[in-house]
Amino acid sequence: MQKKEIVGNFEISKDGAVSRREVLMMGALAATGLAVASNSGAGAAEPAANAPAVKEIYKAKDFSALAKAGMPGLSASQVEQHLKLYKGYVGKSNEIYGKLKDVDITSANATYSPLRELLMEQSFAVNGMVYHEFYFGNLGGKGGDPQGDLKSLLDERFGSPAKFKDFLIAAGKSMRGWVVVGYNLRGAHIDVYGLDMHNMWSPQNVVPLLVLDVYEHAYMVDYGIDRAKYLDAFYNNLDFDIVSKRLAKARKCESGEMTTV
Ligand SMILES: [Fe+2]
Repeated sequence: MQKKEIVGNFEISKDGAVSRREVLMMGALAATGLAVASNSGAGAAEPAANAPAVKEIYKAKDFSALAKAGMPGLSASQVEQHLKLYKGYVGKSNEIYGKLKDVDITSANATYSPLRELLMEQSFAVNGMVYHEFYFGNLGGKGGDPQGDLKSLLDERFGSPAKFKDFLIAAGKSMRGWVVVGYNLRGAHIDVYGLDMHNMWSPQNVVPLLVLDVYEHAYMVDYGIDRAKYLDAFYNNLDFDIVSKRLAKARKCESGEMTTV
């Protein structure tokens, strides 16, 4: 029997890593008004009744207000589906954290071993959680132009707000997963990174300031495969005040040191 939990308005499969194909299917079903049922991980063993409860080291953040915010170009249905996916990553991050406590380290092997698999997928699950939190966190605004220190740094790198926007949109068209506008602690400048997967080409010493999700699941409910329209909608709903607050926190860190915001 599949283990599930209720989080807010969502039913999340404890066993359910959501695959790219399932995400696309989810979007297609939502677009046609059909109910969505998670079936990933079916057949996985039920934990023993007397098994100790796994401590949930990660808690899903509540972004449900975004779905009700009436964001132009980003429908409630689209946001709700996306939040459901995010909560799946939180669940898997907790699951991997728990399993790493009990994993057999005597069988460690670089071709295959349970330890290797957990260590590899840990960064996929955790980054999937964290990047989504940055993404949802910088939505819900009115777009426009960056201001203050943020504008100065972006102008230094790109020349003007209009040129930054053009670069961001182009970066969004060129990647398969994420675009990260970050504050590089080594040199105190802005960098833009592209990722095809959550744990692929993730930069170190760079604090994410503005995160753009370009996976198809981020826009397929609203736009099908028309990513360009989604990118415009994303920009028009950006909250530059949040981006500026992230920059202010990053600025407090010593240059070159690792940190998180
Ligand atoms: Fe996403």
